[in-house]
Amino acid sequence: MATDTLAAQLAGLTTARAPFIEQAQHEGQLYIHQPYELYTPDNHEAWRRLYGRMSDRWQRYANERFRQGIASLCLSPERVPRLEDVNRFLSPLTGFRAKPVSGYVPAFLFFDCLRNREFPTTITVRDGATLDYLPEPDIFHDIAGHVPMHTDRAFAETLVRFGDCAHTAAELVAEIADDAEKVRRATSVFTAMARFFWFTIEFGLMRGPGGEGLRVYGSGLLSSYGEIAHAIDSPEVQRYPMQLEWVINQSFEIDRYQPLLFFVESFEHLFEKVGELEAWMRAGKLDDVAPGEPAMSEADIKSFLDASATKR
Ligand SMILES: [Fe+2]
Repeated sequence: MATDTLAAQLAGLTTARAPFIEQAQHEGQLYIHQPYELYTPDNHEAWRRLYGRMSDRWQRYANERFRQGIASLCLSPERVPRLEDVNRFLSPLTGFRAKPVSGYVPAFLFFDCLRNREFPTTITVRDGATLDYLPEPDIFHDIAGHVPMHTDRAFAETLVRFGDCAHTAAELVAEIADDAEKVRRATSVFTAMARFFWFTIEFGLMRGPGGEGLRVYGSGLLSSYGEIAHAIDSPEVQRYPMQLEWVINQSFEIDRYQPLLFFVESFEHLFEKVGELEAWMRAGKLDDVAPGEPAMSEADIKSFLDASATKR
Protein backbone atom coordinates (compact mmCIF):
# COMPACT_ATOMS: atom_id res chain seq x y z
CA MET A 1 0.00 0.00 0.00
CA ALA A 2 2.76 2.40 1.04
CA THR A 3 4.64 1.42 -2.13
CA ASP A 4 1.54 2.14 -4.23
CA THR A 5 1.16 5.56 -2.64
CA LEU A 6 4.81 6.34 -3.26
CA ALA A 7 4.52 5.21 -6.88
CA ALA A 8 1.43 7.42 -7.31
CA GLN A 9 3.27 10.43 -5.92
CA LEU A 10 6.26 9.84 -8.14
CA ALA A 11 4.16 9.43 -11.29
CA GLY A 12 2.14 12.54 -10.46
CA LEU A 13 -0.08 13.54 -13.37
CA THR A 14 2.09 12.28 -16.19
CA THR A 15 0.33 11.19 -19.40
CA ALA A 16 -0.41 7.46 -19.64
CA ARG A 17 0.83 6.68 -16.14
CA ALA A 18 -1.19 8.74 -13.68
CA PRO A 19 -2.84 6.56 -11.00
CA PHE A 20 -5.39 9.32 -10.27
CA ILE A 21 -6.60 9.16 -13.88
CA GLU A 22 -6.59 5.34 -13.94
CA GLN A 23 -8.72 5.33 -10.81
CA ALA A 24 -11.23 7.82 -12.28
CA GLN A 25 -11.48 5.76 -15.47
CA HIS A 26 -11.89 2.59 -13.45
CA GLU A 27 -14.79 4.18 -11.59
CA GLY A 28 -16.35 5.42 -14.83
CA GLN A 29 -15.85 9.10 -13.96
CA LEU A 30 -15.38 11.15 -17.11
CA TYR A 31 -15.74 14.60 -15.57
CA ILE A 32 -13.26 15.06 -12.75
CA HIS A 33 -11.47 17.79 -10.78
CA GLN A 34 -7.86 18.87 -11.16
CA PRO A 35 -5.95 17.59 -8.09
CA TYR A 36 -3.30 20.27 -8.42
CA GLU A 37 -1.22 18.99 -5.51
CA LEU A 38 -0.42 15.82 -7.49
CA TYR A 39 1.69 17.61 -10.10
CA THR A 40 5.34 16.74 -9.48
CA PRO A 41 8.36 19.00 -10.01
CA ASP A 42 8.96 16.98 -13.21
CA ASN A 43 5.42 17.79 -14.43
CA HIS A 44 6.01 21.52 -13.90
CA GLU A 45 9.42 21.24 -15.53
CA ALA A 46 7.87 19.59 -18.61
CA TRP A 47 5.37 22.49 -18.85
CA ARG A 48 8.16 25.06 -18.43
CA ARG A 49 10.22 23.53 -21.24
CA LEU A 50 7.22 23.12 -23.57
CA TYR A 51 6.07 26.70 -23.01
CA GLY A 52 9.57 28.19 -23.15
CA ARG A 53 10.48 26.77 -26.53
CA MET A 54 7.09 27.60 -28.11
CA SER A 55 7.14 31.32 -27.29
CA ASP A 56 9.28 32.38 -30.25
CA ARG A 57 7.41 30.08 -32.61
CA TRP A 58 4.07 31.55 -31.57
CA GLN A 59 5.42 35.04 -32.27
CA ARG A 60 6.49 33.97 -35.72
CA TYR A 61 3.78 31.56 -36.86
CA ALA A 62 0.61 31.95 -34.78
CA ASN A 63 -2.51 33.87 -35.69
CA GLU A 64 -2.65 37.22 -33.85
CA ARG A 65 -5.91 36.27 -32.07
CA PHE A 66 -4.06 33.36 -30.52
CA ARG A 67 -1.26 35.61 -29.33
CA GLN A 68 -3.79 38.00 -27.82
CA GLY A 69 -5.52 35.01 -26.22
CA ILE A 70 -2.32 33.74 -24.61
CA ALA A 71 -1.73 37.21 -23.17
CA SER A 72 -5.25 37.59 -21.80
CA LEU A 73 -5.19 34.18 -20.06
CA CYS A 74 -2.04 35.15 -18.10
CA LEU A 75 -0.66 31.59 -18.32
CA SER A 76 2.47 30.98 -16.29
CA PRO A 77 5.50 29.99 -18.36
CA GLU A 78 6.86 28.24 -15.27
CA ARG A 79 4.10 26.06 -13.86
CA VAL A 80 1.20 23.89 -15.01
CA PRO A 81 -1.86 26.15 -14.93
CA ARG A 82 -4.75 25.74 -12.53
CA LEU A 83 -7.93 25.42 -14.58
CA GLU A 84 -9.76 27.63 -12.08
CA ASP A 85 -7.33 30.46 -12.79
CA VAL A 86 -7.62 29.97 -16.55
CA ASN A 87 -11.41 30.08 -16.31
CA ARG A 88 -11.32 33.25 -14.22
CA PHE A 89 -9.79 35.07 -17.19
CA LEU A 90 -11.56 33.13 -19.94
CA SER A 91 -15.21 33.05 -18.88
CA PRO A 92 -15.83 36.83 -18.80
CA LEU A 93 -14.60 37.05 -22.41
CA THR A 94 -16.72 34.40 -24.17
CA GLY A 95 -18.49 32.31 -21.51
CA PHE A 96 -16.20 29.36 -22.26
CA ARG A 97 -14.54 27.34 -19.51
CA ALA A 98 -12.07 24.47 -19.43
CA LYS A 99 -13.68 21.36 -17.91
CA PRO A 100 -11.32 18.64 -16.62
CA VAL A 101 -11.86 15.12 -17.99
CA SER A 102 -10.26 11.73 -17.33
CA GLY A 103 -9.83 10.75 -20.96
CA TYR A 104 -11.49 10.49 -24.35
CA VAL A 105 -14.93 12.08 -24.56
CA PRO A 106 -17.25 10.25 -27.02
CA ALA A 107 -18.02 12.37 -30.08
CA PHE A 108 -21.56 13.55 -29.35
CA LEU A 109 -20.75 14.40 -25.72
CA PHE A 110 -17.70 16.34 -26.85
CA PHE A 111 -19.67 18.45 -29.30
CA ASP A 112 -22.46 18.90 -26.76
CA CYS A 113 -19.89 20.28 -24.26
CA LEU A 114 -18.85 22.85 -26.87
CA ARG A 115 -22.47 23.86 -27.30
CA ASN A 116 -22.56 24.50 -23.54
CA ARG A 117 -19.31 26.49 -23.80
CA GLU A 118 -17.36 23.84 -21.94
CA PHE A 119 -14.10 22.52 -23.30
CA PRO A 120 -13.20 18.97 -22.19
CA THR A 121 -9.64 19.39 -20.94
CA THR A 122 -6.93 16.81 -20.27
CA ILE A 123 -5.10 17.48 -16.99
CA THR A 124 -2.06 15.23 -17.43
CA VAL A 125 1.28 16.52 -18.76
CA ARG A 126 3.38 14.62 -21.27
CA ASP A 127 6.55 12.95 -20.00
CA GLY A 128 9.60 15.22 -20.18
CA ALA A 129 11.33 12.53 -22.27
CA THR A 130 8.71 12.76 -25.04
CA LEU A 131 8.19 16.50 -25.44
CA ASP A 132 8.05 16.30 -29.21
CA TYR A 133 5.57 13.64 -30.01
CA LEU A 134 2.44 12.52 -28.26
CA PRO A 135 -0.52 10.98 -30.06
CA GLU A 136 -2.96 11.77 -27.28
CA PRO A 137 -3.81 15.24 -25.96
CA ASP A 138 -2.23 16.57 -22.78
CA ILE A 139 -2.73 19.76 -20.78
CA PHE A 140 -0.22 21.64 -22.92
CA HIS A 141 -2.13 20.80 -26.10
CA ASP A 142 -5.48 21.61 -24.51
CA ILE A 143 -4.64 24.72 -22.45
CA ALA A 144 -1.81 26.27 -24.47
CA GLY A 145 -3.04 25.03 -27.88
CA HIS A 146 -6.85 25.21 -27.73
CA VAL A 147 -7.98 27.46 -24.90
CA PRO A 148 -6.30 30.73 -26.03
CA MET A 149 -8.49 30.53 -29.16
CA HIS A 150 -11.57 30.39 -26.95
CA THR A 151 -10.95 33.99 -25.87
CA ASP A 152 -11.96 35.12 -29.36
CA ARG A 153 -15.66 35.85 -29.84
CA ALA A 154 -16.03 34.65 -33.44
CA PHE A 155 -14.00 31.53 -32.79
CA ALA A 156 -16.01 30.73 -29.65
CA GLU A 157 -19.28 31.13 -31.57
CA THR A 158 -17.92 28.76 -34.22
CA LEU A 159 -17.40 26.06 -31.60
CA VAL A 160 -20.91 26.56 -30.22
CA ARG A 161 -22.29 26.31 -33.76
CA PHE A 162 -20.40 23.04 -34.13
CA GLY A 163 -22.22 21.76 -31.06
CA ASP A 164 -25.54 22.80 -32.64
CA CYS A 165 -24.61 20.73 -35.70
CA ALA A 166 -24.22 17.62 -33.55
CA HIS A 167 -27.77 18.13 -32.27
CA THR A 168 -29.06 18.59 -35.81
CA ALA A 169 -27.34 15.35 -36.78
CA ALA A 170 -28.96 13.53 -33.84
CA GLU A 171 -32.39 14.87 -34.87
CA LEU A 172 -31.92 13.71 -38.47
CA VAL A 173 -30.80 10.26 -37.35
CA ALA A 174 -33.83 10.04 -35.06
CA GLU A 175 -36.11 10.22 -38.11
CA ILE A 176 -34.65 7.02 -39.57
CA ALA A 177 -36.62 3.87 -38.73
CA ASP A 178 -34.14 1.16 -39.68
CA ASP A 179 -31.45 0.51 -37.01
CA ALA A 180 -28.66 -0.48 -39.40
CA GLU A 181 -29.33 2.60 -41.51
CA LYS A 182 -29.24 4.77 -38.38
CA VAL A 183 -25.73 3.49 -37.61
CA ARG A 184 -24.55 3.89 -41.20
CA ARG A 185 -25.87 7.44 -41.45
CA ALA A 186 -24.58 8.47 -38.00
CA THR A 187 -21.13 7.11 -38.93
CA SER A 188 -21.01 9.06 -42.18
CA VAL A 189 -22.23 12.35 -40.70
CA PHE A 190 -19.84 12.08 -37.76
CA THR A 191 -16.92 11.21 -39.98
CA ALA A 192 -17.68 14.41 -41.92
CA MET A 193 -17.85 16.46 -38.71
CA ALA A 194 -14.65 14.93 -37.35
CA ARG A 195 -12.80 15.71 -40.59
CA PHE A 196 -14.08 19.27 -40.60
CA PHE A 197 -12.95 19.68 -36.98
CA TRP A 198 -9.54 18.20 -37.77
CA PHE A 199 -8.78 20.41 -40.76
CA THR A 200 -9.95 23.58 -39.01
CA ILE A 201 -9.91 23.58 -35.19
CA GLU A 202 -6.95 21.18 -34.95
CA PHE A 203 -4.88 21.98 -38.07
CA GLY A 204 -6.33 25.12 -39.59
CA LEU A 205 -4.39 27.95 -41.21
CA MET A 206 -5.56 31.50 -41.85
CA ARG A 207 -4.40 34.27 -44.11
CA GLY A 208 -2.42 36.90 -42.23
CA PRO A 209 -3.33 40.58 -41.82
CA GLY A 210 -4.10 42.23 -45.15
CA GLY A 211 -4.28 38.84 -46.87
CA GLU A 212 -0.51 38.41 -46.53
CA GLY A 213 1.10 35.05 -45.68
CA LEU A 214 -0.42 32.22 -43.72
CA ARG A 215 -0.68 31.94 -39.97
CA VAL A 216 -1.63 29.02 -37.75
CA TYR A 217 -4.80 28.83 -35.65
CA GLY A 218 -5.18 25.01 -35.37
CA SER A 219 -4.37 23.70 -31.91
CA GLY A 220 -2.51 20.59 -33.09
CA LEU A 221 -0.04 22.94 -34.77
CA LEU A 222 0.01 25.54 -31.98
CA SER A 223 1.13 22.88 -29.50
CA SER A 224 3.78 21.26 -31.72
CA TYR A 225 7.27 22.75 -31.78
CA GLY A 226 8.23 20.94 -34.99
CA GLU A 227 5.00 20.98 -36.94
CA ILE A 228 4.09 24.66 -36.46
CA ALA A 229 7.12 25.63 -38.56
CA HIS A 230 6.70 22.73 -40.99
CA ALA A 231 3.07 23.71 -41.63
CA ILE A 232 4.04 27.19 -42.80
CA ASP A 233 7.55 26.79 -44.23
CA SER A 234 7.84 23.30 -45.71
CA PRO A 235 7.52 22.90 -49.49
CA GLU A 236 6.21 19.38 -48.80
CA VAL A 237 2.91 20.69 -47.42
CA GLN A 238 0.02 21.42 -49.78
CA ARG A 239 -2.07 24.40 -48.62
CA TYR A 240 -5.44 25.14 -50.17
CA PRO A 241 -8.39 27.42 -49.51
CA MET A 242 -10.95 25.67 -47.31
CA GLN A 243 -13.36 23.69 -49.50
CA LEU A 244 -16.17 21.88 -47.76
CA GLU A 245 -16.65 19.06 -50.28
CA TRP A 246 -12.94 18.26 -50.11
CA VAL A 247 -12.53 18.49 -46.34
CA ILE A 248 -15.47 16.20 -45.47
CA ASN A 249 -14.22 13.51 -47.86
CA GLN A 250 -10.52 13.74 -46.97
CA SER A 251 -9.09 11.11 -44.62
CA PHE A 252 -6.01 11.80 -42.53
CA GLU A 253 -3.40 10.08 -40.38
CA ILE A 254 -2.78 11.37 -36.88
CA ASP A 255 0.76 10.08 -36.34
CA ARG A 256 2.66 12.14 -38.92
CA TYR A 257 3.12 15.76 -39.93
CA GLN A 258 0.10 16.70 -42.01
CA PRO A 259 0.89 16.87 -45.74
CA LEU A 260 -2.34 18.71 -46.60
CA LEU A 261 -3.74 21.79 -44.85
CA PHE A 262 -6.57 24.24 -45.55
CA PHE A 263 -6.81 27.95 -44.87
CA VAL A 264 -9.70 30.28 -44.13
CA GLU A 265 -9.88 34.06 -44.44
CA SER A 266 -11.15 34.83 -40.95
CA PHE A 267 -13.08 33.31 -38.06
CA GLU A 268 -16.24 34.86 -39.47
CA HIS A 269 -15.47 32.87 -42.63
CA LEU A 270 -14.98 29.72 -40.55
CA PHE A 271 -18.29 30.34 -38.78
CA GLU A 272 -20.04 30.57 -42.15
CA LYS A 273 -18.47 27.28 -43.19
CA VAL A 274 -19.92 25.52 -40.14
CA GLY A 275 -23.33 26.91 -41.15
CA GLU A 276 -22.74 25.46 -44.60
CA LEU A 277 -21.81 22.12 -43.03
CA GLU A 278 -25.15 22.07 -41.21
CA ALA A 279 -27.07 23.01 -44.39
CA TRP A 280 -25.34 20.17 -46.24
CA MET A 281 -26.20 17.82 -43.40
CA ARG A 282 -29.89 18.73 -43.68
CA ALA A 283 -29.72 18.28 -47.47
CA GLY A 284 -28.31 14.74 -47.05
CA LYS A 285 -24.92 15.68 -48.52
CA LEU A 286 -23.00 14.17 -45.58
CA ASP A 287 -24.75 10.79 -45.79
CA ASP A 288 -22.20 9.05 -48.00
CA VAL A 289 -18.81 10.60 -47.39
CA ALA A 290 -15.69 8.80 -48.58
CA PRO A 291 -14.69 5.92 -46.30
CA GLY A 292 -11.45 6.09 -44.32
CA GLU A 293 -10.04 7.81 -41.28
CA PRO A 294 -10.97 8.83 -38.73
CA ALA A 295 -12.57 5.62 -37.53
CA MET A 296 -15.60 6.18 -35.33
CA SER A 297 -15.40 4.09 -32.18
CA GLU A 298 -18.34 2.17 -30.78
CA ALA A 299 -18.52 4.75 -27.98
CA ASP A 300 -18.71 7.57 -30.54
CA ILE A 301 -21.60 5.94 -32.40
CA LYS A 302 -23.39 4.99 -29.21
CA SER A 303 -23.15 8.58 -27.92
CA PHE A 304 -24.86 9.68 -31.09
CA LEU A 305 -27.58 7.07 -31.10
CA ASP A 306 -28.32 7.71 -27.41
CA ALA A 307 -28.72 11.42 -28.18
CA SER A 308 -30.93 10.73 -31.18
CA ALA A 309 -33.14 8.45 -29.03
CA THR A 310 -34.01 11.55 -26.93
CA LYS A 311 -35.01 13.55 -30.03
CA ARG A 312 -37.99 11.45 -31.06
FE1 LIG B 1 -7.08 18.95 -29.87
